Amino acid sequence: MEKNNNYLEIKNIEKSFGKVEVLKGISMSINRGEFVCFLGPSGCGKTTLLRIIAGLEELNNGNVILDDKEITKLSPAKRNLGMVFQSYALFPNMTAYKNIEFGLKAKRYKKDEIKKKINKILEMVDLIHLADKYPNEMSGGQQQRISLARAIALEPNILLLDEPLSALDAKVRENLRKEIKNIQKNMGITTIMVTHDQEEALTMADKIVVINGGEVMQIGTPEEIYTKPANRFVADFIGKINFFNDTKGESILIRPEELLYSEKEKVGYTQGEIIQIEFRGAFYRVSLDIGGEEVLLDLLSKEKKKLKLSLGEKLYIKLDSKEV
Ligand SMILES: Nc1ncnc2c1ncn2[C@@H]1O[C@H](COP(=O)(O)OP(=O)(O)OP(=O)(O)O)[C@@H](O)[C@H]1O
Ligand SMILES: [Mg+2]
Repeated sequence: MEKNNNYLEIKNIEKSFGKVEVLKGISMSINRGEFVCFLGPSGCGKTTLLRIIAGLEELNNGNVILDDKEITKLSPAKRNLGMVFQSYALFPNMTAYKNIEFGLKAKRYKKDEIKKKINKILEMVDLIHLADKYPNEMSGGQQQRISLARAIALEPNILLLDEPLSALDAKVRENLRKEIKNIQKNMGITTIMVTHDQEEALTMADKIVVINGGEVMQIGTPEEIYTKPANRFVADFIGKINFFNDTKGESILIRPEELLYSEKEKVGYTQGEIIQIEFRGAFYRVSLDIGGEEVLLDLLSKEKKKLKLSLGEKLYIKLDSKEV
């Protein structure tokens, strides 16, 4: 049994830069071994919050509690948290091996122990062959994996990642997502990753914290955030969504892939005109004009093949309830 499930607790964090309130009372708890993503638009305060957890930024109000111990005023070194940033931040004049060795030496591990640790970690990230390479001899993805290895080698209480994948191209990013997730799960290391990429958060996180304007909008699993968005901001930020008012005036949110449709007129369905058809690979996104409002409908490519859809055609949509 784990001794304490509620591993990191953040209570009512407030932070201002000058007169600008950047964090307006942020609270959450994070479980041991959990992979948490802070997700939100640029400038919403993600990095500031991460830096406060790391002890790199002072706060105006609130508490940070790690494993039942108050660490709000503790220096960064004493918190033993590993941080990886967007830019690789490796020492350019040191090989991959030396980069990882640096922190371990500072921690006064014995020489042979250091060697064992580094080899183990390099094996884990599958980069033994890069041990003697300098940063400028490595690709961006490789440098970022070494940065990660360097942080993990120190066995931090929590791994803090600030948009570690954002500087990489799409394919490398996708591979690294899986790799980071695997390493994290295998080691059971509690991880917080900042991102403004909703897909990254949905695919990697056990728990997503959606932040906007220095406030928590919603905390939940990727499925919860996607299927039961707490408010319009969350619904809009994570994927596409249609908003309708039903006959009682209550608003209904329906994802484009959840809309019921019919080629023929049908009771309870509303007529729309196709104004745009966008091919997205696995699916088509069809825009319909319904009484001057744009409504989006996603159709799987194989589903679309069965229909005769073209611009100006009519399609009938059920607006008031969704498929369950
Ligand atoms: N040292 C600082 N001095 C003054 N203002 C700051 C400082 N650091 C951050 N800010 C401001 O605080 C707000 C939040 O910044 P923060 O870097 O936390 O955002 P973010 O969510 O990480 O954004 P991004 O996705 O662009 O990295 C921004 O308006 C930023 O300009
Ligand atoms: Mg940031």
